[in-house]
Amino acid sequence: MNSDTATLFLNPDRNLAMELVRATEAAAIRAVPFIGRGDKLAADGAAVDAMRTFLGTVNFDGVVVIGEGEKDHAPMLFNGEHVGNGNGPACDIAVDPIDGTSLTAAGRQNALSMIAVADRGSMLDASTVYYMSKIAAGSEGVGVIDIRKPIGDNIRALAKAKGKAVSDITVAVLDRPRHAQLIDDIRAAGAGTRLMLDGDVAGSINAAMYGTRIDLCAGIGGSPEGVVTACAMKALGGVIQTILHPVDDEQKQRGLDAGLKFDHVYDADELVKSENTYFVATGVTDGGLVKGVRRLGPVIRTESIILRSKSGTIRRVLADHQASKWLE
Ligand code: FBP
Repeated sequence: MNSDTATLFLNPDRNLAMELVRATEAAAIRAVPFIGRGDKLAADGAAVDAMRTFLGTVNFDGVVVIGEGEKDHAPMLFNGEHVGNGNGPACDIAVDPIDGTSLTAAGRQNALSMIAVADRGSMLDASTVYYMSKIAAGSEGVGVIDIRKPIGDNIRALAKAKGKAVSDITVAVLDRPRHAQLIDDIRAAGAGTRLMLDGDVAGSINAAMYGTRIDLCAGIGGSPEGVVTACAMKALGGVIQTILHPVDDEQKQRGLDAGLKFDHVYDADELVKSENTYFVATGVTDGGLVKGVRRLGPVIRTESIILRSKSGTIRRVLADHQASKWLE
């Protein structure tokens, strides 16, 4: 046992995420009646309300630094909103009550409810610029991938670091017209794509976890999701690099006014300065990371994943909730 592991073992401290998971579970459960009903705002609204209520029970003093919703005028936990019961550690919190609202409304796979937490003042507030260009991989990608390089170079470098053939590399990319060239370039390099309808946080986490079919996640996605991903990457030992992607000059100016840098690579340490991060996600609909909420007779079963940077622990939590206590 080295001194770090001995310290962790002899002085185990609280894993805040073990409590936060109740909030993502509640958000996922409350979103269920809206799965496949075509109303993404209603689904998001139900998840937001449930998450807010459950966060209120958690012993921490959280401030929402990243509330998802500005980009598409969705219901949200507001930036600057205080959550938690006000006792305990002062934290920044990034929330995404449903990552994949359209997936949920359509009844498609891969929708998640998620929360990321880090020490107060440590998360980048990128709320003025809705999109980022991102690249993410597991620990083999640390010091190897470089968002400024062509995707083909990154694929080759990662394949070498992983001891795999380029043809065995799979890159997760959001299926968007803006990624047509990226997708062509990935295929031209000899790698395969996994096109995602939504949900690039899960794509990045899958790239960093063992036992998945994803090696790399690349492309332009939401800025809030970039910060959330950075919290997860710190626990997984993976790598994420991002460059802000303003959609117009006005957005760029708002970003500049807020002190953001353009043509600058924000790595995990700049996205989240703290080394003390937590990430929690519960499946809303079935996905590669976790299964979605399902009804099994008298119980509602949820599946969640909990990551913590201090220990690097990855926990999977299967919970059976008494349906009678959840039905109004
Ligand atoms: P929401 O469902 O929370 O809106 O986000 C889904 C998502 O796919 C994110 O995972 C991703 O980062 C972002 O939207 C991409 O934005 P867009 O759908 O506008 O391309």
